[in-house]
Amino acid sequence: MFNLILFGPPGSGKGTQSDRLVEKYGLKHLSTGNLLRQEINDKTELGLAAKNYIDSGKLVPDQVVIGMVDSFFEQHKQARGFLFDGFPRTAAQAEALDNLLASKQTAIATVIALDVSEEELVKRLLNRGKSSGRSDDADETVIRKRFAVYLAETSPVATHYKDAGKFELIPGEGTVDQIFESLCLIIDAKI
Ligand code: AP5
Ligand code: MG
Repeated sequence: MFNLILFGPPGSGKGTQSDRLVEKYGLKHLSTGNLLRQEINDKTELGLAAKNYIDSGKLVPDQVVIGMVDSFFEQHKQARGFLFDGFPRTAAQAEALDNLLASKQTAIATVIALDVSEEELVKRLLNRGKSSGRSDDADETVIRKRFAVYLAETSPVATHYKDAGKFELIPGEGTVDQIFESLCLIIDAKI
């Protein structure tokens, strides 16, 4: 199995690049944001519980997200590898993921982080908010809150994987093609 984490702040291009990477490398895309939005659309209990957190730019509680990832994993046991997008987002989630993968006799091969400035992120997300229908893109205050939450709660995840020698940072500004090329160079060297 080849398991990759695409890491970076809200709006850094994780979803955009994931779509291309899963196609090229045949990985299963696991985006906790997409899964949560699906639960909200389906009006499930989990979705109802998650909605207020998402609308205000806060993280959904770890136990909810970890449970959802566990069941996604169970449903896709045959996958040749996973691309994690927007997960793990806290130190506790990173630990849970390491344990889950270890129980399947596999591990994270590498974490690639997209480096984008706060001003560029805000610009991208406000722009997307005009058409995405995403409640958390509509308001600059919520977008900046998401970035602050990223700095406070998610950046420790980078340290976790740096300590394990599995972390690479690449520029996330430039064209989508340029960034895709940098990602492929790193992945091709590891896969
Ligand atoms: P999630 O859905 O994960 O959103 P996010 O991380 O906030 O980031 P985005 O999906 O907005 O950005 P992205 O990096 O995917 O960029 P994209 O490719 O879309 O999470 C949403 C919420 O769900 C969280 O706030 C939290 O409440 C909850 N949640 C999710 N996972 C959780 C977890 N693990 N634990 C707890 N809570 C969780 O690109 C953004 C825009 O930029 C697009 O319009 C795109 O077209 C454009 N763009 C992309 N690349 C470029 C480029 N190179 N140049 C110019 N524009 C570009
Ligand atoms: Mg995304």
